[in-house]
Amino acid sequence: MKKTKRCLSLLLVCLLLSALLPVYASAETDTVLQFDENGQFRIMIFADIQDNRDIEESTLQLMRETLDKYPADLVIFLGDNSVDRELEGYAASVEAFTQICNERNIPHAFVFGNHDTEMDATPEELLAIYREFGSLTYDADPDIYGCGNCNLPILSSDGNKTAFNLWLFDSGSAHPDKSIGGYDCVRADQINWYKTTADKLKEENNGETVPSMLFQHIIMPEVYETLYPKLPFTAGKDYTIKGKTYFPVPFFNRHSGIILEPCSPPFVTEGQFDALLETGDVIATFHGHDHVNDFKTDCYGIDVVNVPTVGCSAYSDAISRGSGLITLYEDDPAAYGYEMIYHFDMALEENSLLPQIEGRDSTFYYKAVKFFRQKILDGFHNLFL
Ligand SMILES: [Fe+2]
Repeated sequence: MKKTKRCLSLLLVCLLLSALLPVYASAETDTVLQFDENGQFRIMIFADIQDNRDIEESTLQLMRETLDKYPADLVIFLGDNSVDRELEGYAASVEAFTQICNERNIPHAFVFGNHDTEMDATPEELLAIYREFGSLTYDADPDIYGCGNCNLPILSSDGNKTAFNLWLFDSGSAHPDKSIGGYDCVRADQINWYKTTADKLKEENNGETVPSMLFQHIIMPEVYETLYPKLPFTAGKDYTIKGKTYFPVPFFNRHSGIILEPCSPPFVTEGQFDALLETGDVIATFHGHDHVNDFKTDCYGIDVVNVPTVGCSAYSDAISRGSGLITLYEDDPAAYGYEMIYHFDMALEENSLLPQIEGRDSTFYYKAVKFFRQKILDGFHNLFL
């Protein structure tokens, strides 16, 4: 009986989604992203919620309190948004975390992570769920690799032109070629779509490049070339990136923040980073995936940022858990601001419900976490790699 009920409700969800698919296959939406009258635009990034249909209350409350203290103009869910393996459960978790934005009238978008699509449903079915709950993400070209590859323009404060642009990419899951192994990479047809669309944006902007940021779950391999020491030999597979082997402990002086696990990009590339350098529009890229890493580094002139998990039940570390806040300035895009909003800081806010939800009715724990993090930054940077 229970099984029949479950099948019926799953059938209902499928019927609803199939009815919604044609409606939401396009970018059509009433929402316009625009710089405010002060020429600012704020983006809050929530990465790797990575929970099932019953999202841990502390994760939801952390996101609520973060957005209440730092109101954003857009929220981006940076992949591994849900790991529920059933369509019905996946939809329930999307409803729960998008509701936080919808209740606050904050537009939201997402990219897929490697775990989102590890289920029977197709990515297109999952995209339809997000669209049902108001996501701005759309599939710009259904013929290219992945799903949800798109761009979101941000209008100038006077509304006369596209002043900034956001690229959202599906960085895939496991690489389907077992001889390559590791994670998938952004493919040549996605890169061609990016280059063509960037050209179009430039043309529409009187020949001037539109400054942009890129959001995709998995970091690009080039981060190893500028952040990690290269070994004089090739050995093993895990840290052999683009045919070169690296020592998995980064140079301490080449990044800010904390790196608590080696970055895990794909082992190969089809030229995505080179295309960014060639096009010259992207000033920063943002990634999740490595839950306990919160750092920013310069990679051939482009800022590469890893946003740690916001999920309290995903694998995580109290010293890095939180969300990333970008502040864009219309008159000086390259001078954008980026700051981490940490779980421990939010829990130490007056009237925060987080300590009670987590059963720690004391601020001592969070003060200790904050102190410990500072000690690592001060003297023991990367000690725990
Ligand atoms: Fe993840």
